[in-house]
Amino acid sequence: MTSTSFPRALPDDLHHVRLSADDLPAVLELDTWTFPGTVPVEELAGWPFPLTWERTWGVQGTGGGPLLAMHGSYPFGAFPVPGGTLAVSGLTWVGVHPQARRRGILSAMIDRHLTDCVERGESVSALFAAEAAIYGRFGYGSAADDVKVTVPRKADLHDVPGSAEHTVRIELADQARHGTIVEQLHREAGAQAGGGLGRPGWPTRETPELQAAFWSDPPAWRNGGESLRILLVERDGRPRGYALFRRKSNWEDAGPRGSVHVREVAALDAAAAHALWSRLLDLDHMATVHAGLLAPDDALLGLLVDSRAAQRRLTDNVWVRLVDVAGALGGRRYAGDVDVTIAVHDGRLEANTGTWRVRARAFEGDVQVERTQEPAALAMDVRELGAAYLGGRTLTALAATGLVEVRDPAALAAASTAFSWPVAPVSSWVF
Ligand SMILES: CC(C)(COP(=O)(O)OP(=O)(O)OC[C@H]1O[C@@H](n2cnc3c(N)ncnc32)[C@H](O)[C@@H]1OP(=O)(O)O)[C@@H](O)C(=O)NCCC(=O)NCCS
Repeated sequence: MTSTSFPRALPDDLHHVRLSADDLPAVLELDTWTFPGTVPVEELAGWPFPLTWERTWGVQGTGGGPLLAMHGSYPFGAFPVPGGTLAVSGLTWVGVHPQARRRGILSAMIDRHLTDCVERGESVSALFAAEAAIYGRFGYGSAADDVKVTVPRKADLHDVPGSAEHTVRIELADQARHGTIVEQLHREAGAQAGGGLGRPGWPTRETPELQAAFWSDPPAWRNGGESLRILLVERDGRPRGYALFRRKSNWEDAGPRGSVHVREVAALDAAAAHALWSRLLDLDHMATVHAGLLAPDDALLGLLVDSRAAQRRLTDNVWVRLVDVAGALGGRRYAGDVDVTIAVHDGRLEANTGTWRVRARAFEGDVQVERTQEPAALAMDVRELGAAYLGGRTLTALAATGLVEVRDPAALAAASTAFSWPVAPVSSWVF
């Protein structure tokens, strides 16, 4: 990555403007330019809006005129990272009007965003990328994958003791009725993954705006399916897991060939996951079950007796950008003892550039991260450090691509083990 002057300025005829609720029509108008859809702006205006206005910026001509670009960020106060949580800024709603593309507006907005992160003390920024080629140049590394599966009805699952002790409730999904229990189960499922190690990259919908948007279910988003339903599994009267889903009918000459579309699933243990999937895989008139945003180590994938019965597709999930290398590396735990020196290059945030010594004991706190003059064992762009940060990409794999330079081969194995994590990172929802 080449160095750029930071922060990059907007072209002279444009400036950044703070946006507020009064700008909602202009924001939605711009959104329909950057993410084309069929829903009229007037209808979109009636749907819950997920952004936090104090963190939302626009770009406009210096003489006024229409909104030409925007970005916002979600304030994740407790974003799960390996062994803990950190304040993370979730970059979102990034868009530039097609007429204003390729004038450096995105570049200036990213620098505005990174400056805000530094000022707010957020040492990490994360995002979902609309296109995978956009964000690497800005120091974001692809840090996690998710799996999309299509499973035939009645696919056999391995037995799990305790599964039969669950009862199942299937109801219309309703935020007033299910919101609290779903958010609680979601948080617990993330925290308990891996026997309490926790699943990195599994953020909670922390703001009321995000929750309202998550639960809204306008017909235009149903893609021909029914309204959202919830399947709750309980054991001894206590909720242990849920799936939010909808069914879509499809009647063919040969009979019903409907499909189930799972929006989000969370389970506290293997027995709950088994109970949940057994029921989802056996709904009348349905031929297939589609689920996405599953971690590569999700229980469903291991529960299938015939793993080839499921069609799978891997895609990138969360991207991570270290804003403050020392704060970020010191804010997670490590999966092995480590004492390694890493030369980091950051073409935008100069304070990150330099050689860092990272010392930690396996799974313990009190991680030491300090600048050093010692020779570096490994060298990489801040992007690769972001890719490895949640433990979902190994330094050995990055070294195999040449993106991590190995100056001391003896250091690679221990560092790679330490930076990995036994639970695969994933976010179960797109932010
Ligand atoms: C993607 C988008 C934000 C880029 O905005 P922009 O103002 O045109 O970007 P910039 O002019 O700052 O481009 C900066 C660099 O990124 C590159 N780039 C921009 N968009 C890219 C893309 N989709 N794929 C690959 N490279 C891209 C540019 O070529 C440029 O490269 P250079 O510095 O080598 O010349 C804009 O095209 C857009 O709004 N697209 C539709 C909505 C969208 O996808 N948003 C992202 C949501 S995650």
